[in-house]
Amino acid sequence: MNLTKLKQKYVPLVFTSNEFNEIIIYITHNSDFNFLNDIYLSEKELDLFFQIVDIFLKTNMPLAYILNNKYFYKYDFYVNEDVLIPRQETECIVEEIMKYDLNNKNLFDICCGSGCIGITLKNLQPKLNLYMSDISPKAIEVANLNLKKYKIKAKTFVSDFLNIFDQINIVPDYITINPPYINSLDLNIENNVKKFEPHLALFAKEEGLYFYKILAKRLDFLFQLNKNLLIICEFGFEQKEQLRNIFSGMIVKYNIDFKKDYSNNWRYFVITSKEIYEK
Ligand SMILES: C[S@@+](CC[C@H](N)C(=O)[O-])C[C@H]1O[C@@H](n2cnc3c(N)ncnc32)[C@H](O)[C@@H]1O
Repeated sequence: MNLTKLKQKYVPLVFTSNEFNEIIIYITHNSDFNFLNDIYLSEKELDLFFQIVDIFLKTNMPLAYILNNKYFYKYDFYVNEDVLIPRQETECIVEEIMKYDLNNKNLFDICCGSGCIGITLKNLQPKLNLYMSDISPKAIEVANLNLKKYKIKAKTFVSDFLNIFDQINIVPDYITINPPYINSLDLNIENNVKKFEPHLALFAKEEGLYFYKILAKRLDFLFQLNKNLLIICEFGFEQKEQLRNIFSGMIVKYNIDFKKDYSNNWRYFVITSKEIYEK
């Protein structure tokens, strides 16, 4: 069947245009968007398409979990219900850190989930030394699967947030963190996010601010490990002012630069030491 006709039938009634493209890429193994409108699906491919539609309509499960796949930055990641589905806004962390020299540097991706941040960076700069940690052993299994998929080497750890730096003796040059940051009382969270994505990956205590408070408390310790350390951390787009308060006592010693995502929302901050910074 011609793809244009199929698309007219299912977009926007069932799928968004992006979701439809994701399914077609998955079915055809053809990720060249320029060709997507011209192709015909074989009977077998069409069958698979209808199976996916069926599961999607019956379960309302996010497409990424049905396909066990999510495209992030420019790579496909295996995902299942043990990990958060990588979000587009998190790609800003990748873009930001790629501005720096990663050659032979030690990067820790904390709260790594599927490993999308660390593995993308290692794919882009193979000479990076990558370490990834998460408190969830099942998430680490998924991260390990993704490492295997890209045939890259990295060390993975099951560890509680920043405790990894008490457990091993490797000096970090970069730390990337996308912690859980949703307030468990948040009523705006979509139903199928709440139903299918791991709550451990979504919600944090203290109105979603728990991990930032720990980070603030441990900054001196982290920068004692390496005064040239750079930390990049994602946050919820409405949390900037609360974060300013949490880090207010730190600004004498550290630069806390708040940055926006592609949708012009405040999304992540970069922390460096005010002592001589020489990267
Ligand atoms: C928002 S998800 C981010 C996943 C991935 N980095 C991404 O950007 O898609 C947060 C991750 O933090 C993990 N996590 C939750 N509590 C943690 C803790 N105390 N220590 C380490 N990781 C934790 C969750 O298992 C989840 O994988």
